[in-house]
Amino acid sequence: MKNFASDSLTLGIIGAGIMGRGIAQIAAAAGINVLITDADTVVMEEALQFVHKMIDRAVEKGRMSAEEAARAKACLKSTSNLADLGRVDMVIEAVVENLEVKQSLFSELERTVPEDCILATNTSSLSVTAVATACKRQERVVGCHFFNPVPLMKLVEIIAGVKTERGIVDQVMAMIKRLGHTPVEVMDAPGFLVNHLGRGLNTEGLRILFEGAAAVHEIDAVMRDCVGLRMGPFELMDLTGLDVTCPANEQIHNQYYQEPRMRPTPVLRQRYVAGLLGRKTGRGFYTYRDGNKVEPDQHEIPSVTGSPRFWISRAIPEVGERVTDLLKTAQVTLDDGDRPGPDSIAIVTPLGGDVSTACVNEGLDPVRTLGVDALFMMEKRVCLMSNPAASRTAIDNTWAVFAGTGRAVTVIRDSAGFIAQRIVANII
Ligand code: NAI
Repeated sequence: MKNFASDSLTLGIIGAGIMGRGIAQIAAAAGINVLITDADTVVMEEALQFVHKMIDRAVEKGRMSAEEAARAKACLKSTSNLADLGRVDMVIEAVVENLEVKQSLFSELERTVPEDCILATNTSSLSVTAVATACKRQERVVGCHFFNPVPLMKLVEIIAGVKTERGIVDQVMAMIKRLGHTPVEVMDAPGFLVNHLGRGLNTEGLRILFEGAAAVHEIDAVMRDCVGLRMGPFELMDLTGLDVTCPANEQIHNQYYQEPRMRPTPVLRQRYVAGLLGRKTGRGFYTYRDGNKVEPDQHEIPSVTGSPRFWISRAIPEVGERVTDLLKTAQVTLDDGDRPGPDSIAIVTPLGGDVSTACVNEGLDPVRTLGVDALFMMEKRVCLMSNPAASRTAIDNTWAVFAGTGRAVTVIRDSAGFIAQRIVANII
């Protein structure tokens, strides 16, 4: 048996689309012989040209020497005949996401490839165990889930099916490291790990939108600024495209036997059938002009009326103290008693709850009570929650005072919890 970490290897890649060509590029660059094929010979030729162009670009940018580029190009060959895969050490299939197509391909491959050849699927949402059932030797079938764009996204999920041999997983892990990527072994569960987490992010984001608690750009801004994500759920869905996200959400929800946390909201399918797919159609949750997101208009920051005083709830002292520390920088008067003064604005910091409930629990006047999410970062943005009875003056004064600390402010309606708390709780 070959050592996949160091021996000379030949990798067969079936499907020369977005993913197949990306995998071919990094494998050839790592000195692995690649034999790529596609049912569509035009696509196959395009893929070869694409990889050559990417290698040339790496030379121009000084990331590869001319000799390394020539070696990488020499590693890459194509064929339109599956029978040519008779001497490969491993095959990665990256054909259309359809169980029957993948099963019939693997079954056909078993008649061609060597006995000890590993069969890997790049599926993102199908069960590796199910793909393997078409094979006589199911123990050599494994999931090898790359992310798009392959050269940049270093994480690769390695998935053992129920019958996959341990040694096969180890060989694939070694090979992925050789490509300069990071393999992580995950369970053969719907969505594996990353797409499972992604469902938590976008289903709860959609739920908050559907409830009318906050707008798309507000939810994204909170997830970026308060949680530290690179993109919020709607920016991510626009990038992936609803043609991928909507079926994936529905499929994963069903594969988890209608698990409520995974349940999509109607707004998702409506937008999908309307063709508001995202960046690729120029309009999704955002509008795109010349490929750039058009930023929605921001609310104007209100002015302070009078000289507002604040009282901060001590119901959850550690969290309340964070708000106190922030407001001390705002040059406002803070009440230090156990109850708010007669005209003070009360600030509550509910964890996993809403402001109305906090008012009832703490016996506070809802007309002048607002919530602050002090569980997450407040360095860039503060997320406030109003309640149906809150006066406009209380909302505007709280908003203006927090904005005066140099933070952006997002004010959401009273709902089952703050944006970041709800979404993070749904992910973990
Ligand atoms: P794609 O549509 O860009 O490419 C698929 C290619 O497979 C096409 O060129 C098609 O001609 C070819 N093909 C279809 N049936 C074939 C067969 N029986 N034999 C040979 N070639 C065949 O698709 P993409 O996006 O590259 O996806 C491929 C796989 O990777 C899918 O399973 C997808 O779920 C998975 N994936 C996709 C990601 C993405 O962001 N696009 C991310 C991670 C996984």
